[in-house]
Amino acid sequence: VKPRALAPSLLLLGLISLATGGPLTDRDPNEEHRARRLALAVGMVEGTLVLTGAPAGDYRDRIPEPNLFYLTGLTDADTTLVLTVSKPPADESGRSKPPTLLERLYLPPASPRRERWEGPFLHPGPAAAKATGIDDTRPKGVLIEDLLKLPEGSRLYLLDPRNPPRALAPLLRHRPDLDLLPARSLLAPLRSVKSEGEVARIRKACELTAEGLRACYAQCRPGMFEYELQALLEFHCRRGGAPRQAFASIVASGLNGTVLHYQANRRRIEDGDLVLMDVGAEHLGYAADVTRTFPANGRFTDEQARIYDVVLAAQKAAIDRVKPGVTLRTIHLAADAVIEEAGLSSGRMHATSHHVGLEAHDPSRGGPLAKGMVITVEPGLYFPEQGLGIRIEDTVVVTEEGCDVLSAGVPKTRAEIEALMAVGNAARAPGK
Ligand code: GLY
Ligand code: MN
Ligand code: MN
Repeated sequence: VKPRALAPSLLLLGLISLATGGPLTDRDPNEEHRARRLALAVGMVEGTLVLTGAPAGDYRDRIPEPNLFYLTGLTDADTTLVLTVSKPPADESGRSKPPTLLERLYLPPASPRRERWEGPFLHPGPAAAKATGIDDTRPKGVLIEDLLKLPEGSRLYLLDPRNPPRALAPLLRHRPDLDLLPARSLLAPLRSVKSEGEVARIRKACELTAEGLRACYAQCRPGMFEYELQALLEFHCRRGGAPRQAFASIVASGLNGTVLHYQANRRRIEDGDLVLMDVGAEHLGYAADVTRTFPANGRFTDEQARIYDVVLAAQKAAIDRVKPGVTLRTIHLAADAVIEEAGLSSGRMHATSHHVGLEAHDPSRGGPLAKGMVITVEPGLYFPEQGLGIRIEDTVVVTEEGCDVLSAGVPKTRAEIEALMAVGNAARAPGK
């Protein structure tokens, strides 16, 4: 796609955002979304993709469908994107013609009453077409009617054909001839290489998370409840503009630190505990995923220090391996070698890396890393008998030569952590 009309469309989006504060704030330029749809169309060969926002429901925070957001920048639950790729027959001379891509957006109908209650939303018409760069916008009520016209035996791409959106039930009932194919595996390779704009968003999510974690270093003391640190961390993320966390915050003290998916965050933190915080802000749709482990009272015990330094050394060895061409397995083995060398293999529980992007656990195409991919490096050791769980996790972007640690704003050596915690403790000391 040509970068044509980039500036005017940015200006237009800016104006719309100002005017409505509504459904179109903080989108990438339409051209970028269009380029992603074209790339997807190449992988589709021929067929129709139907991608629906997460179903609208009660008043709880709704998480936008990440693939719909990736392809359109839209977060509205009530939106369906339909892409049809067709191969025109060859002309008389036998020359094949390039495939064509037909794009449609199905939106809820205009409703002044709903707008009165909920504020502006996108509805079919020229304004939506202009705002999204998708010319053909239609009321969602005609979606099934339109799809019923698909030619006999067409390929129908759904995110997960085993779990089709409920709204498509009437179509699937009437059209058993459609050949259902998974779209997820076509989207994963596209999503796994991030643009500079995407990396900037992840970096900002990491910065907000780092700010929160530094505040936790400064404020933590025995007697606090885990949820107090959660509140402090999330306050810093929200204040920086994060609409939500990218995943449920884990604030795990003592024995809880050995429970990988602990999320209750209800325990009172005791003197002598380690506190493991696995947290990440969401920023403009993109996730951070960062873990730090620190002593509740500001000083590591000798035993905690010994194991902490092994995890940190394992993480450093792994981060040093990250570069284009390397697999996640190689990175994992680098961390593992350090842990094994220290004789602590019995404390291992999980893999060392996963991709990060619109989701904290982002899909990937597998295989070797490439420049622009974003992954975590997160070795951990867990010894329930000792009530000791330690994980150190950073989000890093693969660069030409190696990687850049996006969450470097949260110190992780023992000396740095103890120094930051000492400043916090001094500020709270009696007489101050
Ligand atoms: N927060 C989940 C993970 O670290 O993979
Ligand atoms: Mn994590
Ligand atoms: Mn992770």
